[in-house]
Amino acid sequence: MNPSLSPEERANLLIAAMTLNDKIAMLHGVTAPKKKAANAYDFALPPIGYVGYVPPNPRLGIPALTLADGRAGVGNMAKDVTLLPAPIAAASSWDPVLLNEFGHLLGNEEWGKGTNVALSPSIDVVRVPEWGRTFESYGEDPYFNGVMAAAEIQGIQSEGPIANANMYLTMNQESDRFREDSIVDERTMQEIYLLPFAAAVEEGHVGTLMCAYVKTNEIYSCQNAQILGDFVRKQLGFQGWVMSDWGATHSTVDAANHGLDQQMPDDSYFGAALKAAVLADRVSQAKIDEHVRHILATMFKFGLFDKAPGGTWMSNVRSRQHDQFSRHVAEQGTILLKNDGDLLPLKEGPSIAVIGEAGKNKPKAEGGGSSGVAPPYVVSPWEGIRKRAGSGGNISYDDGDDPAKAAEVASTAQTAIVVVHTDETEGSDRPNLQLPGNQDQLIQAVAKVNRRTLVVLDTGGPVLMLWVNQVAAIVEAWYPGQEDGNALAAVLFGDVNPSARLPLTLPRTAEAIPTSRKEQWPGVEGHSTYSERLNVGYRWYDATGTEPLFPFGFGLSYTTFRVSHLSIKRHTLSADELLHGATASITVDVTNTGARDGAEVVQLYVAHPAANGEPPHQLFAFGKVSLRREETKPLKLSVDRRAFSIYNPTDHRWKVKPGAYGILVGTSSRDLPLKGTITVQK
Ligand code: BGC
Repeated sequence: MNPSLSPEERANLLIAAMTLNDKIAMLHGVTAPKKKAANAYDFALPPIGYVGYVPPNPRLGIPALTLADGRAGVGNMAKDVTLLPAPIAAASSWDPVLLNEFGHLLGNEEWGKGTNVALSPSIDVVRVPEWGRTFESYGEDPYFNGVMAAAEIQGIQSEGPIANANMYLTMNQESDRFREDSIVDERTMQEIYLLPFAAAVEEGHVGTLMCAYVKTNEIYSCQNAQILGDFVRKQLGFQGWVMSDWGATHSTVDAANHGLDQQMPDDSYFGAALKAAVLADRVSQAKIDEHVRHILATMFKFGLFDKAPGGTWMSNVRSRQHDQFSRHVAEQGTILLKNDGDLLPLKEGPSIAVIGEAGKNKPKAEGGGSSGVAPPYVVSPWEGIRKRAGSGGNISYDDGDDPAKAAEVASTAQTAIVVVHTDETEGSDRPNLQLPGNQDQLIQAVAKVNRRTLVVLDTGGPVLMLWVNQVAAIVEAWYPGQEDGNALAAVLFGDVNPSARLPLTLPRTAEAIPTSRKEQWPGVEGHSTYSERLNVGYRWYDATGTEPLFPFGFGLSYTTFRVSHLSIKRHTLSADELLHGATASITVDVTNTGARDGAEVVQLYVAHPAANGEPPHQLFAFGKVSLRREETKPLKLSVDRRAFSIYNPTDHRWKVKPGAYGILVGTSSRDLPLKGTITVQK
């Protein structure tokens, strides 16, 4: 209990005082605690509610571990919490500061609920557009996901709880998720799938990782020595602990010896069986101590021994500011994809027909599965629009069940807003990218009778838009959280100038996607082959010359921007300098050329020398700039050695590769008008 000692020293002193039973008890959760703890760290109420629980050790003063879900708010049916927009919406802001605040809110509410390990964020790269958990993630680019992960983790952890980067590794589909085997080469694992986790560890200083359900190259994640040992401990120097996803532990000896620290949620492999394995010398005492040290040192580091929990599962953690923040995130995450004839922003005193189930009767505020949050309320699009339109507005509604009837309602209004949705959830992938049910017909029927038709997409991932040329405007609002309608109305009426950008590519057809072959997804006989290798997301569209419907990084505004004057500080850098932390610095001017204040997201992509076999260009820096109308500001972007490195699977190392690199700057992966070169010398 001496806080002047380091967390490791404190952990070692404690470990010296622990029996084998004490140690084993730290290495697994319990599903039904038998008796209430009775020490200073006692929780006033039994820890029902927490999805994971490690009881306290009163004799040694070890506090309980209380784990709760929540990618978009405290999960596991907690009451009196805030429902935020889905992480994919937050990420669409392309604003790490917003993600950091998102983490703060989440961490604050988790801590206020007595949670000391918050099972967030989910940072896997979206490989398959049909993936049922796309909405829980940030998108398809590894660098981008890493930036967002570090920002959110820092936010969560500065409020008290230990964050959890999940799901590690190659967790990219729900189909067959308890057995699926991702066949993926080592270079791809490193350059695409590991990258966000590297940022979570090295920049986010995340306290825990969750190993995934799936196998990677035939070995279950939670007993995979390469990914739990070589990658995470040796390469990234991770000091925290690895817990298994719920039910993702498949062995005792292999899991313990290959790097799993803690089984969740129960003790089927890491309870009596682990003790027996130790007594039989199949798992060493030193190994057990190592796992316990990972857990205890992290608990010390986060102050869990030195401060009381922030509340209990029954605490009310909501506030007006949290409601407002939820709305702010939804506004910042709503992407304007199309706006023909300046349909938007809407004028005052409008006549509007809101169409579709999600428009009023069943607003689609969140995705399904373990990330589910019990929302305090949800403002429907109809309600939000009606409130914003005020007494001058005439807002009708039809649930869209019968497209012909809906078209009749739509034909009498100035503007028709069709709100469509998908029902994405953990546990299953979408069978295809079409809008479910009759929603495509509904949009087409409405568009036929009303030239001013706007489609609002409340989806968790990409959908096909067969009607893209028939409607005047399209807005991707994702799963927008409890403030759904208020945020939507603010964007539609121009109170907020949309500034979000796509964090993933929207495809034109079902075939024109990177994972269209069955052996890639959902796999054949339990194997999903990552044959697209590094060409994930926009990389594949660029490498194959395939036109996306809307490219990665794209989004419109009510104003217009120009990016100009690319200037590269130093055109030549040495590999050695880069390895010692030098960065290449690039500046551009960003101008708001329109008549409204707004914000632009400037993106920098790096094109490797052709011989490296890299995708055509990859995102390595971005910045968001707020500009008053006609204002110009300089923006500085910098890239470090990662942009000039590739992974060599033969000697299992990242290497800075000499050569001439293209520096491409613009406002989407398909709009990169500014070009320069940086040469890396040996
Ligand atoms: C999910 C995890 C979640 C856990 C606990 C699992 O099914 O994959 O994301 O944290 O359940 O609810």
